[in-house]
Amino acid sequence: MIRVEDGSIVVKDLTKIFQGGFAAVDHVSFEIKDGELFGLLGPNGAGKSTTMRMLTTLLRPTEGDAFIGGHSIKDEPDKVRLLIGLVSDKLIVYDRLTARENLRFFGHLYGLGGEKLEERIDELLDEVDLSRFADRAVGTFSTGMKQRLNLVRALLHNPKVLFLDEPTLGLDPQTVRFIKDLIVQLHQSDITMVLTTHEMALAEELSERLAIIDHGKILAIGEPKRLEEENGVKNLEDLFLKLTGRQLRDTLGKEKSAPRVIRG
Ligand SMILES: Nc1ncnc2c1ncn2[C@@H]1O[C@H](COP(=O)(O)OP(=O)(O)O)[C@@H](O)[C@H]1O
Ligand SMILES: [Mg+2]
Repeated sequence: MIRVEDGSIVVKDLTKIFQGGFAAVDHVSFEIKDGELFGLLGPNGAGKSTTMRMLTTLLRPTEGDAFIGGHSIKDEPDKVRLLIGLVSDKLIVYDRLTARENLRFFGHLYGLGGEKLEERIDELLDEVDLSRFADRAVGTFSTGMKQRLNLVRALLHNPKVLFLDEPTLGLDPQTVRFIKDLIVQLHQSDITMVLTTHEMALAEELSERLAIIDHGKILAIGEPKRLEEENGVKNLEDLFLKLTGRQLRDTLGKEKSAPRVIRG
């Protein structure tokens, strides 16, 4: 398949300030070339997911802008959405639907349908080795199977840019390897990819270039080997710890069922 779209990403002064004036992403600027596999690394709470959520139009920047294939995430979110796919560790698949029904549902959201969609679904299920479970309810799937389905769910519309936010979190080594191979394969087909992960070996192996961010700011950006040389360290883990320190980052998740207390 010949791809004519441009999958470049240009990020300019991107900033997200949450309630209370806390800057989760603080005037971040960088560029990703068309077809590049770019890693985004940082400790818990560094601002990786917030950056991804802005780039995927799920969250509006407080300041700055970003351009995907030349389209502003602020002014042309609909155009951006057609160009991108997002995979995170939060699975976006319905347990009550079968694998095929899930893909059909999401295909319809992208305006796909008919024979073409059914063919695409067959192709994608085959890609992630789920053809024989096509008509089983996803609620019966293992986490690894669900994540494989979740991955191709993001590929239905043939995106030019794929965002992967911790795609291997909590998965068994077999699934991690499978996803890694799929990422390599997608990279060969010229998709631009932005990957966040805590697994240094995975990031080092996959990223052509990467950025290390902490406290919403970029600390280093470039080719992994080059960054290691420049900083006199022998691997990405040492570089990461040198730049971000050894302090543990304890963050609490939001309580799910606690009622909101409004103080007047
Ligand atoms: N909706 C939100 N409201 C307030 N603070 C948030 C919100 N989302 C994220 N944060 C805070 O912003 C910071 C960055 O979060 P995040 O981007 O999720 O980090 P990462 O993905 O690098 O672990 C954290 O301190 C987090 O608690
Ligand atoms: Mg995150």
